[in-house]
Amino acid sequence: MPFDFDTVINRRDSDSRKWHKYSGRDILPMWVADMDFAAPPAVAAALHRRVDHGVFGYGVTEPASTAEAVVAYCARHYQWKIQPEWIVWLPGLVCGLNVAAGAFGADGDEVLTCAPVYPPFLGAPVNQRRRTVTAPLARINGRWEIDFAALEHAITPRASQFSFCHPHNPTGRVFTHPELEAVADFCERHNLIVTSDEIHCDLILDPIAHIPLASLSPTIAARTITLMAPSKTYNIPGLGCSYAIIPDATLRARFEPPYGGIVPDVNILGFVAAEAVLRDGEPWRQELLAYLRGNRDCLADFVARELPGVTLPHIEATYLAWLDVSALGLDQPAAFFEAHGIGLSDGTAFGAPRGAFVRLNFGCPRATLVEACARLKRALAAR
Ligand SMILES: Cc1ncc(COP(=O)(O)O)c(C=O)c1O
Repeated sequence: MPFDFDTVINRRDSDSRKWHKYSGRDILPMWVADMDFAAPPAVAAALHRRVDHGVFGYGVTEPASTAEAVVAYCARHYQWKIQPEWIVWLPGLVCGLNVAAGAFGADGDEVLTCAPVYPPFLGAPVNQRRRTVTAPLARINGRWEIDFAALEHAITPRASQFSFCHPHNPTGRVFTHPELEAVADFCERHNLIVTSDEIHCDLILDPIAHIPLASLSPTIAARTITLMAPSKTYNIPGLGCSYAIIPDATLRARFEPPYGGIVPDVNILGFVAAEAVLRDGEPWRQELLAYLRGNRDCLADFVARELPGVTLPHIEATYLAWLDVSALGLDQPAAFFEAHGIGLSDGTAFGAPRGAFVRLNFGCPRATLVEACARLKRALAAR
């Protein structure tokens, strides 16, 4: 079945956070990780069926059929055999990052992560009375890599957790089996609990299989909280259904109770949409990946040909481009590009040095991306 990713859907007056930010201004929003595509048709069909029931009382908190769909999906997509009781439902993964940061260790403990990274990795530990400690990723031969020497250097006796983003937002790296083995070894040697945020794992553009960190061995599984959600891949983040997968019963018991009554339940429509895509979303996802690959290549060509001073290492996964603009000598690059009609995320929020990086979301119809490229070029010409 062919799906339509080319039609530009008007989201300006549709309560979209992404588009509302620039309401009334001619600025293309290419910041937050939300795509401008309609969700797979299976979502609307399942929601219509549920809405037609007409009764919207409290939902169950442990939906057996959605859990079954998660278990089957993990087996099918990552050859990872999980148990339904390992699943802890969450209304969002930022919530999961915060819950994990507060559930383990003690006040004042350190949560280690590699920067740049999705901003809530930096904020969640602080929200939960911990300290965030970052080790920089290294760029080796144009590829972003984990700098294990920097991680070793950053370890102190107060480090009790490591938070890991895999595939990595914002660089789009998919970590290899040897890299994951090294992460597991690092966390085991330093006795760290790991939160592995794998929300982008179904958005791998290159022919690389996703390997959940916790699937490497029972030893690493016993100290890992894996965060997953169908929300990025199937473009349903507004429906709020995510999950932590926690094989170890003791960790699960630490993760759950303190938050009872604070973290809201997943809403009934979120479960319906998640189950629909986990069961029936694959044909749509395959076409999405082909379309995003086209967008990635179109953007990479344009940057190389038309944007002198901007570099973009190869993107293996996600629909996010981490553009190195440091050679342009701009103090606030996101503000500069915004003034020229393109709304990007500023790298400093991800822990990058001032003036060095912007992130561009290319999860949009090709026509929107082409217009954004033209604006980037005009912006540089106007400097
Ligand atoms: C790595 C990562 N984790 C979590 C989220 C957000 O998750 P949620 O919307 O479920 O809070 C994002 C969104 O961009 C992300 O990139």
